[in-house]
Amino acid sequence: MNALYDHKITSVSDFEIARKKAIDSPEVFWSEIAETFEWIKPWDTVLQYDWSIPKTEWFLGGQLNITVNCLDRHVATHPDRIALYWEPNNPDDIAKTYTYKELLDAVNQFANGLKNQGIKKGDRVCIYMPMIPELTIAVLACARIGAVHSVVFAGFSSSALAARINDAQCALLITADGAFRGDKIIDLKAIVDEALTDCPSIKKSVVFQRTFSEVRWDNRSDVWWHDFVEGLSTNCQPTPMEAEDPLFILYTSGSTGKPKGMVHSCGGYMVYTAYSFMNVFQYTPGDVYWCTADIGWITGHSYMVYGPLACGATSVHFEGVPSYPKWDRFWQICEKYKVNQFYTAPTAIRALAKHPTKIIEGYDFSQLKVLGSVGEPINQEAWDWYATHIGKNKTPIVDTWWQTETGGILISSLGGVTPGKAIFATTPLPGVQAALVDEKGNPIIETAGEGILTVNYPWPSIARTIYGDHQRYKEVYFSAFPGRYFPGDGALRDSEGNYRITGRVDDVVIVSGHNLGTAPIENAINAHPDVVESAVIGYPHDVKGNALMAYAIVYDNIASSDELIQSIRQTVSDQIGPIAKPDRVLIVSGLPKTRSGKIMRRILRKLAAGEFDALGDISTLLNPEVVEEIKAALTKK
Ligand code: PRX
Repeated sequence: MNALYDHKITSVSDFEIARKKAIDSPEVFWSEIAETFEWIKPWDTVLQYDWSIPKTEWFLGGQLNITVNCLDRHVATHPDRIALYWEPNNPDDIAKTYTYKELLDAVNQFANGLKNQGIKKGDRVCIYMPMIPELTIAVLACARIGAVHSVVFAGFSSSALAARINDAQCALLITADGAFRGDKIIDLKAIVDEALTDCPSIKKSVVFQRTFSEVRWDNRSDVWWHDFVEGLSTNCQPTPMEAEDPLFILYTSGSTGKPKGMVHSCGGYMVYTAYSFMNVFQYTPGDVYWCTADIGWITGHSYMVYGPLACGATSVHFEGVPSYPKWDRFWQICEKYKVNQFYTAPTAIRALAKHPTKIIEGYDFSQLKVLGSVGEPINQEAWDWYATHIGKNKTPIVDTWWQTETGGILISSLGGVTPGKAIFATTPLPGVQAALVDEKGNPIIETAGEGILTVNYPWPSIARTIYGDHQRYKEVYFSAFPGRYFPGDGALRDSEGNYRITGRVDDVVIVSGHNLGTAPIENAINAHPDVVESAVIGYPHDVKGNALMAYAIVYDNIASSDELIQSIRQTVSDQIGPIAKPDRVLIVSGLPKTRSGKIMRRILRKLAAGEFDALGDISTLLNPEVVEEIKAALTKK
């Protein structure tokens, strides 16, 4: 077993020792963990940081290639261990298995293709693919040669894709002809073609043939994946990377304006994702781990690709959806691969829980050792259902709080080791110095309390900047409370120091576990030719957690109609993607505003939630009459 596992925490006392050491001597703590990896050149300085600039640098002077740690070093000792079990969308399709050696060969071969194409260290490569093994291969091939991957979730629209490609000035795009999702086929190549009409930096698209759909083809700019790799060697020297060189960019919504390209670096990200993966999920080599996320999100990057592979883990990757062909698909897969650690999102749990438990009966869950939750606060009903029906009241649940920006899990119990508590993320991981503050930034020092969550000290996988906009990085994360990292979440702490994350404190709404800024959705709606102004807010939804409601003011000569509402929803889908489509659109004559002209979103949220009695004093509004109008319209519906 590799030496990383010497740092596995297996008891509460181990945890206490690790936690204390990480506070007393963080540099010693992290360097001992980092030393268990293969470095081309050791680092000179463990940590250098100044959050007033803000700058965070770990393992400075060290050189490595993350793929050596994720692949080569396992191939050296156990080449035939399974790295990936890939389960196709349709259970009758052929499942695939990759050993560590097979994965390394495939990565190297594709990396050689990238090199032939002139892609070199530092170039940005956009990946827009379904959940197939080639997505993992493409990601790792970029990392092999030091190209910076920017994976865009394949549910985003052509304009969202184009915006991300242009922001990072990507040189190459890797995609597929289509994607299978349940009983649907999504024409990815058509979306890509549309996006590329506006992306001059892309010189070539590599297209994997997955659905064998008909596609528009241009021999000058398109190349099939199979032609791209044909005859290429399966050896490719890993490019030495500085620990602080960028590994990838991943976009996340902000509460204002365009998406933020979070930049993660090679060294610290590797160390933290591996350490947190091993400890939170209590992974032991030989276990089979399954995370149901998509690699297009950070959960997929950190806990489907880099973390598990750096630990030499065996993972399941699933192409499809929980409902296809029937709502028992997840449990079928758990049983088929004898899954030991299962990691999913509350929205999936709520959707699954809506179906009669008969569908679960007969499945064998005895292999499960840890159940995980991520992406949004888990509600009591979802927790109870998960604990009872899947965990059989004995499998521990870890509620893992983290973000695209944090790179890895910051607050969670360690499965079955540290005490869990229903609907609480519980304790910060060793090395994570979390603190609650009030709105003025004063620390809440009593153990129990409620406030705004902050982190006071660097951890290795913090995103280093926003691509091309360091100033925005500073403003969003380091300006609200100088000297502290501000994630944008509220939290409460119980008398034992356990944290429960209560939700966003900014204008980001989490819909089905997806982070959506309301500002970009409003911008999309405002681009509709009939719309004058809009406001988008989230309201509680029993499966999605939150749903979106848009209030829109239209031009005087336009009447509200179903067609208009559908076309506003479609505009959002076209500009951002179906995930951002508001569930409800209400045409209004005005929006409640303060006398200084600020939209009172709090009131709009309460109205959408039907909490008419909780509106508070509306008499100070510039236009209280619109509140009455909205109430009347919502009551009528
Ligand atoms: O509000 C928090 C919520 O999701 C946000 C981060 O979203 P994203 O960058 O898309 O990453 C999601 C996967 C890590 C956070 O700011 N969130 C994430 N996990 C939890 C959570 N809220 C409560 N409990 C969680 N376990």
